[in-house]
Formats: sequence, C-alpha cells, structure tokens
Amino acid sequence: MKEIVLSGIRPTGNLHLGNYYGAVQNFIKLQDNYNCYFFIADYHSLTTHPHPDDLHGRVKQILVEYLAAGLDPEKATLYIQSDVPEVVELYLFLNMNAYIGELERVTTFKEKVRKQPDNVNAGLLTYPTLMAADILIHKSNYIPVGKDQEQNLEKARDFAERFNRIYGIDYFPVPQAFNFGNDLIKVPGLDGSGKMGKSEGEGNAIFLCEDDKSIRKKVMRAVTDSGPTEPNQTKPEAIQNLFNLMKIVSKPETVQFFDEAYNNMSIRYGDMKKQLAEDIIQMVTPFRERINELANNDEYIKKVARMGAEKAHESASKTIKEVREIIGFRSF
Ligand code: TRP
Repeated sequence: MKEIVLSGIRPTGNLHLGNYYGAVQNFIKLQDNYNCYFFIADYHSLTTHPHPDDLHGRVKQILVEYLAAGLDPEKATLYIQSDVPEVVELYLFLNMNAYIGELERVTTFKEKVRKQPDNVNAGLLTYPTLMAADILIHKSNYIPVGKDQEQNLEKARDFAERFNRIYGIDYFPVPQAFNFGNDLIKVPGLDGSGKMGKSEGEGNAIFLCEDDKSIRKKVMRAVTDSGPTEPNQTKPEAIQNLFNLMKIVSKPETVQFFDEAYNNMSIRYGDMKKQLAEDIIQMVTPFRERINELANNDEYIKKVARMGAEKAHESASKTIKEVREIIGFRSF
C-alpha cells in the first residue's frame, strides 16, 4: 500500500510562477509516487465571508489552473472539500477535544484577530480543527506544507494523538510534514526583494493565465538600479533576483550573455527585461491556452470534480463509519 499524501489549496487568487515552480511542481512529482489527495479548501474560505456569486467561480478557476499546470485526476484524487461533507462530521468530533486555549495560541489566529478585529468568527478559531479533519479523514501520512502552515499541522498531530489516546486505539496515523529538502525552487518577485507572491503587491507576480501585454508591462517595471559601477561586482539583491528569474525561464546562453554584459558593465537593463519578458511569455503561453480551453470545457471539469468527489467520499465514509463506532455511536 502506498503512503498517503494530502494537501489543501485555498481558493484565493490565480496560480503564479512562484506557485508553479514551488508547490505545483512538487505535487506533480508526488502524484507519481504516493496515493495523493489534493483538494480545494472551499469550506475554509468561508471564514472571510465570500459572496455566494463568487465562490463557485473561484473554485472552478483553481481547479482549472491546477489541471492546466499538470495535476492529473487519473493519478491523484482531486476534489472539492465541500463535496465531502464527512469532513464536517469529523471536524465536529475533533472540536469536542480541541480546547479554546490552545486554539487561541495559534499564531495565524492571533494574526487574524489583529488584522480583522471585526470578523473574529468561530470558524477562524477552529480553522486548525477543520484542517486536522481534512488530513485525518483520509488517514494521511504526509502533508507537504510551507512554513506558514507548520503550526496548523502540529495541531493536527496533537488532535490525532489525542483521539488515539482518549479512545485507547492506534487509529489515526500521526501526520508528518513532507520535506522537500533542497528541491524547492524559489522564484523571486519583480519588486526587487524576496519571493514571488500576490500579497506583495499586484506587480510582483506573473500569473499562468496572464496575457502577453500585461507580462511585458510588469517585467519592464521590475525594480533595477542605475547599473554596475565597477567590473565583476557582486550584484545587489534586486539585480540578482532578475538574473535568478531569468535562470528559471531562459536558456543558459541568454543568462550567460547578460551576466557577461553585467560584468563588463555594458548591460542595458531594458534589453535584459525585454528578453526576460519574451522568455516568460514563451513559458506561460501554453498554460494560458490550456487554462482557457479547460475553462470552456464544463463537461470535462464536471467529470473531474465528480470523479474526485467519488474517490474522496469512498475513503472518507470508511473513516467516518469507523470513527463513529470508536466513539460509541451504534445504530439501532
Ligand atoms: N490551510 C492551508 C493554507 O492556508 C490550506 C489547507 C486546508 C490545508 N486544509 C489543509 C493544507 C490540509 C494541508 C492540509 O494554505
């Protein structure tokens, strides 16, 4: 039996190059080697009170973009969280042994309290229990999570161990973080600092669905400086980031050409950016086309969602049946 890997995806924003070379590439590798469950966390998204007219469209867009990026519904179980209501029942059970004090101490909760004091709802407080339910419903072994989700995963581990201890049964595997080691490619953003992400501002990220004109505009606006002041100098962060981005999307000869130009001080950032924009466009175009194709193929999307829901339901209902028995529910 293959080990189980699970990850949830929040339906916020479009896939950008940072997501693609980071999480998505890893999902694609994982789906070949593990029994993978990837789902769109639309229950979780309710904490921010999305308008009913927006919710479905956002979920569809995420599904379409992940499919276009290479997630394979024949290999992984790809589903929408709300198609598997067993998750909510497990969430209720886990909440009975989740304590207000420990939930209040979770950093992401404390952050939300600070950032949105007018919407500190119980769903936010119990976000880690819902996430634990997502994980435990399929008795998952590994969770590929970023730094920001480590504490939530820690809570899932606590809840799994607690359930096992309370009922004196070794039922839930204790989920572990999936460690990518050095495999993770970090994609720098266009604002000269750090990494690509939509929260760093509109111009910082390039999306897989983005059109050529908009890509050119963003790249041409990327932060640079007034140029090298002596030969072979160390590149400042913003410039190094531009080179790093180029290393990801361009041919090695291209990178080398501009690197030499930098070192002999003949570089023209405008030329480098033009080239970078064209190479990003080359990389993004097939994805954008596939996204548009899939977005117009409602029949296929429906088929994928149904197939995922069925597979996820099969595993989830088995767990819930067993959990109910362990807890002491018996049918008359
Ligand atoms: N909380 C995760 C995020 O914000 C999304 C998520 C929901 C998740 N349930 C999960 C991730 C279960 C891993 C496992 O990105």
